[in-house]
Amino acid sequence: ADPGPLQDFCVGVTDPSLGVFVNGFFCKNPKDVTPNDFLYKGFNTVGDTNNPLGAKVVQVNSTTFPALNTLGVAMGRVDYAPGGVNPPHLHPRASEMLAVIEGTLYAGFVSSNLQSGVNRLYAKVLNKGDIFVFPQGLIHFQLNIGSTPAVANVAFGSQTPGLITVANAVFGSMPPISDDVLAKGFQVDEKVIEALRSQFWSDG
Ligand code: GLV
Ligand code: MN
Repeated sequence: ADPGPLQDFCVGVTDPSLGVFVNGFFCKNPKDVTPNDFLYKGFNTVGDTNNPLGAKVVQVNSTTFPALNTLGVAMGRVDYAPGGVNPPHLHPRASEMLAVIEGTLYAGFVSSNLQSGVNRLYAKVLNKGDIFVFPQGLIHFQLNIGSTPAVANVAFGSQTPGLITVANAVFGSMPPISDDVLAKGFQVDEKVIEALRSQFWSDG
């Protein structure tokens, strides 16, 4: 989904003192670019799933791997403990392919309601070797339904796919969305909103 590059590469310079370039980063002088700029190490590192969700996502994007600047692709690795979930989230700027490397996942996405009037769930149980695709901007998730740890590798069609986790964005925004908006919007009592916010909001 990113625009095509105007040059072979533009290894990003991420030093913020150089200012902000809204379409990505300034390019490192090509004379100073070496093979090491195109090398990312550590993708085999097992993510620490010892957290309330039991899952850990590492995105390799143009911020964490500046060689990707202007190149339109990114990857990620997700580790899941048994029962671990990568919770409902979306990427505003990219479709995503997810390949199961180890384990068994229940994964799906929900469509917009524009074509059929309903938000339809498209979900499957995925085994090792299966690939599923999540269309750009649609809410999706994965749950490890196996009894062993699971691993997925993901690929994105943007150097900076972005990540909006629904619960954190809605109940954990800074500053918070007012109770009136959320109670009416979700058609529940404000107590329910407060309970949810207490899980996802912190002023840190
Ligand atoms: C999986 O959906 C991911 O974005 O890592
Ligand atoms: Mn995703």
